[in-house]
Amino acid sequence: MGARQHRTALGTLNREPRHPLLPALAAQCISLVAVGVPVLVFLPALLAQPLLVALLQGVVAALLARWMRAAPWWLAIHLGFMPLAVIVRKLELPGWLWPLGLLLLVLVFWRNDRNRVPLYLSSRQSAERLLRMLPDRPCRVLDLGCGDGRLLRHLARERPDCRFIGVEYAPLPWLWARLAGASLANLEILRRDFWNLPLSDYDLIYAFLSPAPMSRLWLKSCREMRPGATLVSNSFPVPGVSEDARIAVNDRALTYFYVYRPAGARSTIAAT
Ligand SMILES: C[S@@+](CC[C@H](N)C(=O)[O-])C[C@H]1O[C@@H](n2cnc3c(N)ncnc32)[C@H](O)[C@@H]1O
Repeated sequence: MGARQHRTALGTLNREPRHPLLPALAAQCISLVAVGVPVLVFLPALLAQPLLVALLQGVVAALLARWMRAAPWWLAIHLGFMPLAVIVRKLELPGWLWPLGLLLLVLVFWRNDRNRVPLYLSSRQSAERLLRMLPDRPCRVLDLGCGDGRLLRHLARERPDCRFIGVEYAPLPWLWARLAGASLANLEILRRDFWNLPLSDYDLIYAFLSPAPMSRLWLKSCREMRPGATLVSNSFPVPGVSEDARIAVNDRALTYFYVYRPAGARSTIAAT
């Protein structure tokens, strides 16, 4: 990798806010005060229409988030958060549903607020395409953030001569992946944060993450992956780094694989 590509990757990494939940919380609190106080003092009659007040609060929160340069999806979250809370409250659901729903969300999405990699799954066609990229000889494959593990289960069934390792930190997807893959001897599911996992032991590393961690992942891959090993990123290229190959998967989402050799040496993985 050239010095310029390294600098570009580092620059992108440095722009990532470390705690995106904090500005979101600030936008919600400030807009609650900014809308709530004037309504209470000057227009208390408006309290009879809580949905209208919630909509107003949502608009102010979204404007604040935009001013704070939050990512676009935060604007939609701010716009909808209070109005949705008002609507759901009207449904008079049992009180225990709230903490249960929250618990499930936390167990599935875990530290998504910080790492900005939500759970969505690779298509069947992606799994098939990845299968065709495996070399004829036995090899070791790592899925960084394996979700419910279905991609690895498919590969493990088709290639009993290879070893597949999935690493996932969100408790529910990890548990699902672990239980569903328990009968496959060549599949191992680890509950770990992949940033703490050395990448030196694999022939192919697959990542279906988001744009947010790609620069950091690139730097880690360059440091740790062994010569000849291949990094395949589903959908998200590494900013500022030219891929060695770009492969169209031909699924409904028009997925592309971005293929890299971070350690530079010739790979034995078929890239086309
Ligand atoms: C987009 S999903 C991809 C799931 C699976 N690899 C697939 O292709 O179907 C990304 C997964 O990575 C997990 N993840 C994100 N950051 C992680 C980390 N630092 N350590 C372990 N898992 C992580 C998320 O919890 C999520 O389940």
